[in-house]
Amino acid sequence: METKYYLVDKEHPDKRILAEAADILRRGGLVAFPTETVYGLGANGLDAQAAARIYAAKGRPSDNPLILHIADSGDVALLARRIPANAAALMARYWPGPLTIVLDRTDVVPDAVTGGLSTVAVRLPASTVARELIRLAGVPVAAPSANTSGRPSPTTAQAVLADLSGRIDAVLDAGPCDIGVESTVVDCTTPVPTLLRPGGITLEMLLETLGEVELDSALAESTATPRSPGMKYTHYAPAAPMTLVEGAGAAAMVRRKVTEALAAGWRVGAVVSAETAALLPSAVVKAVYGPRDDAAAIAANLYQALRHFDACPVDVIYAEGITESGLGLAVMNRLRKAAGYRILQA
Ligand code: TXA
Ligand code: MG
Repeated sequence: METKYYLVDKEHPDKRILAEAADILRRGGLVAFPTETVYGLGANGLDAQAAARIYAAKGRPSDNPLILHIADSGDVALLARRIPANAAALMARYWPGPLTIVLDRTDVVPDAVTGGLSTVAVRLPASTVARELIRLAGVPVAAPSANTSGRPSPTTAQAVLADLSGRIDAVLDAGPCDIGVESTVVDCTTPVPTLLRPGGITLEMLLETLGEVELDSALAESTATPRSPGMKYTHYAPAAPMTLVEGAGAAAMVRRKVTEALAAGWRVGAVVSAETAALLPSAVVKAVYGPRDDAAAIAANLYQALRHFDACPVDVIYAEGITESGLGLAVMNRLRKAAGYRILQA
């Protein structure tokens, strides 16, 4: 199939273009669209066959459930059996925005969307283009990140097309996404809400509203002690094996490691801060994610940095870790996964 490309204004998108895209969604097709976090690959969230097309286009394992995106917070009642008080508080505070809430689902949600789970993940995005598209489609829109399964999520329409051109019906291009990492996922079906995925709404922000948050066991484990490589399926993987260097001495150890690898004859890549990049040998292929102390800028540039090596081939990559506060928690979560948990402590 030929993928239709539409350029739209981020704040004032052309209604006719959105109506065309909404029509494709209603008829069971796939439309990639921008959100404030990353580009999503949308389908009619109440249509099991349309959802199945998402899995096929991405090569995504069918047991990994999808997020349903809505245009108004009232629409959550169609999808969720009940809204616990803590979920209502989160919605009031952080919707629309980069927060996904897991709730007990109603029968209108197809098994194909939830991977057969009794729960459903719901998000009300802040992006004007996303919300107008969902409103015009008139149905909840199932949308994972619009990348081939295992690859870094797309933060531009060009990254979407690099992965999915010819496999989806259309893409709406509204330029780069503001936040750059995916939404925070919080499970509100547990007595104390559980953080499943750190993202645009930080742990500190969740604690302000909830007082208490549990970390999912996989998340707690990977932050406390690095897991052994290969323990998990690949995610966000760049085009060559990557090792993440964490800790206060990360910058110095990255310098040492890339120098050794160059001496051994490898083509070497580095995913690093601007400060560290300035100190690396010129032979290193550098993907700079921003100033070391600016976690928001780093989040916004992270996936583009990981995709840098698609066009500039290397044999090995070293990445410099950052401090884990604020958006830094989400950045480090993605870097650890992108490294397949190959981690060095410095
Ligand atoms: O920012 C975002 O959330 C983006 C944009 C497009 O909205 N979407 C996104 O979707 O990141 P995806 O499919 O790449 O990630 C969805 C995450 C997965 O980790 C999935 O396992 C989890 O949400 N999830 C979905 N439904 C769930 C459920 N019922 N219970 C637990 N986790 C769920
Ligand atoms: Mg994804």
